[in-house]
Amino acid sequence: NKKAFIFDLDGVIVDTAKYHFLAWKKLANSIGVDFTEEQNEQLKGVSRVRSLEKILAWGNIELSEEKFMELMAKKNNDYLTYVNQMDESEILPGVTRILAYLAENEQGIALGSASKNARTILQKVNLYDAFEVIVDGTNVTKAKPDPEVFVNAAKQLSIENENCVVFEDSVAGIQAANTAKMISIGIGDKEVLKEADYVFNDFTEISVDFIKELTMKKLK
Ligand code: G6P
Ligand code: MG
Repeated sequence: NKKAFIFDLDGVIVDTAKYHFLAWKKLANSIGVDFTEEQNEQLKGVSRVRSLEKILAWGNIELSEEKFMELMAKKNNDYLTYVNQMDESEILPGVTRILAYLAENEQGIALGSASKNARTILQKVNLYDAFEVIVDGTNVTKAKPDPEVFVNAAKQLSIENENCVVFEDSVAGIQAANTAKMISIGIGDKEVLKEADYVFNDFTEISVDFIKELTMKKLK
């Protein structure tokens, strides 16, 4: 009985939110806008363009198209200086164990991320080959909570949506999985991710037995 397990990247496999925070903060401050950890929370799962639009709205700033593009590039260059220093030690605890179990048991394994840097990051942490299918910000037009990213991954694996399980740390991502009729597993705070079918603080709380059960039962 083959199921597909679709992983978000940022906040699920690696904690890149801290690097996004540093890069966005530097950029926001450079144009006179304050940027807090709480605001960073609101950018989780949100595309790069949409993130900058939000920051500009918080600062009541309007920019020309040209300047907007320039700031986007600046942020990403800054972000990439952190990404380039990443290695396997940044894989979040418990993740490798679950990926290994899924591979051993011939389950579908996909990445479903909004990031245009997803492939680079997977290569840095040496997980590129762990994913049979990668859907990222370079092949998706509609952002989460639209289910496009996950539906696309399921299609490429030739597995029905009803037989897919999604791991997500953002509210928008959980909503996307639910809309696609996939099982949603929240990684993070139960209060924040209350729409998810299951929530765990992190992967160390997810047992192989739990995953095994998902692979064997009818999900929906
Ligand atoms: C993920 C992160 C967001 C980020 C987005 C785009 O969804 O949670 O914080 O803005 O990817 O990432 P990118 O690497 O393309 O700027
Ligand atoms: Mg995420």
